[in-house]
Amino acid sequence: MDLPELKEKLIKYGQPELAEIIDAAETVSGIDLELVSGLYRMASSGDRTAEEGDIAPIPVTVEDELDRVTRERYIRAGERLIRTGGFAAVTMAGGQGTRLGHNGPKGTYDIGVDEHSLFEIQARRLLRRAAISGGAQIPWYIMTSGENDSATKAFFEANGYFGYAPENVRFFKQFMLPMVGFDGRIIRDSFTSVKMGADGHGGVFRAMQAGGVIEDMKARGVRYAFIGGIDNVLVKLCDPLFIGFAYLNDLPCAGKSLIKRDPFEKAGVFCLKNGRPYVVEYTEISEEMARATDEAGNYIYGDAHILCNIFRIDTLEDAAGRSLPYHVAVKKTRYVDANGEITEPEKPNAYKFEAFIFDAFSRCDNMGILRVKREYEFAPVKNREGEDSPATARELYESAKARGKLD
Ligand code: UTP
Repeated sequence: MDLPELKEKLIKYGQPELAEIIDAAETVSGIDLELVSGLYRMASSGDRTAEEGDIAPIPVTVEDELDRVTRERYIRAGERLIRTGGFAAVTMAGGQGTRLGHNGPKGTYDIGVDEHSLFEIQARRLLRRAAISGGAQIPWYIMTSGENDSATKAFFEANGYFGYAPENVRFFKQFMLPMVGFDGRIIRDSFTSVKMGADGHGGVFRAMQAGGVIEDMKARGVRYAFIGGIDNVLVKLCDPLFIGFAYLNDLPCAGKSLIKRDPFEKAGVFCLKNGRPYVVEYTEISEEMARATDEAGNYIYGDAHILCNIFRIDTLEDAAGRSLPYHVAVKKTRYVDANGEITEPEKPNAYKFEAFIFDAFSRCDNMGILRVKREYEFAPVKNREGEDSPATARELYESAKARGKLD
């Protein structure tokens, strides 16, 4: 008898607890134990720094320094691509949002502005852009995870898709990996379930492929797609200038940057590694690299990656067909111990393995980086309080709005 059949039988005969064990067995049978044990070895050996390589600064285009003619050419080309259906937006909303600690998908969080959730902020902004571009239809793809997929869809349903045409919204799920305790044991978060975590924003390419998103984009004639996160309330999901910049220069991918506010701001920095575009994540940067300045006192590696990137459709396909390396994050997660007791730890207790979207950059021969203004483009919601919190994001959002910068 196979597992689904056994589960059905257990339910039929009134044994729901045992049926849950079958669910767990199904999850466990889908885990690549060899991969997970290799990842644990990497994590526990402390080998978490960026691999060796020849690191050098990367050329950057500063938006503010573009001459008027170039600027207008980019905007016109971007607008044309949007109008003719050649552009799509992707929002990655599969993260766990552990630092924010909100009960529900992060996109459902209300920072206290006119739009009542992070999802609504993005929907309204896309709708405004579509209207400016002559009523264009902008396909919007939203990445969820096994943990938040149904809650996310239900939220969209309950809110009438915030006025977005449902046929232009498509959800797709990312892959999951188990979280592993510091002793190498896979974490259980209840007596019968394994603690699975989304496999990082780098999982977006594989998930787009598996979820039929790339196929759908091709069928609609999409040439470039923006991919960003859900938690930056100032994200310009559809920025004609950025789109035109990528399109007219025929770039395989492009990313926005801004100057980091201090050497240890929690954002990766753009650079070249062995001559190819690369981002060193803040958890993996050496102090020397973080602090390095030129003669004028500017950071040599000062262009922070803000998870605002655009990819040509063939780059998406290429990235989907390859595996990106996994990085290790240390997280705090509820677990069930050997006696079946549930514990909410006070300190981090588990490794989570995540692929990073920017590891796909090094597949590209060239990449454009557009340095933009922080106050109009970046207000992340990461922590419950203090830096990068709902309070700081709200303030930045209101101030950008007051200056008419939310189109
Ligand atoms: P973060 O790396 O900041 O993670 O994600 P997070 O899940 O929001 O928060 P913490 O670290 O648990 O506190 C940046 C963006 O990438 C998305 C998130 O939803 C967010 O928009 N993301 C991250 C995914 O979609 N999937 C992932 O596996 C990881």
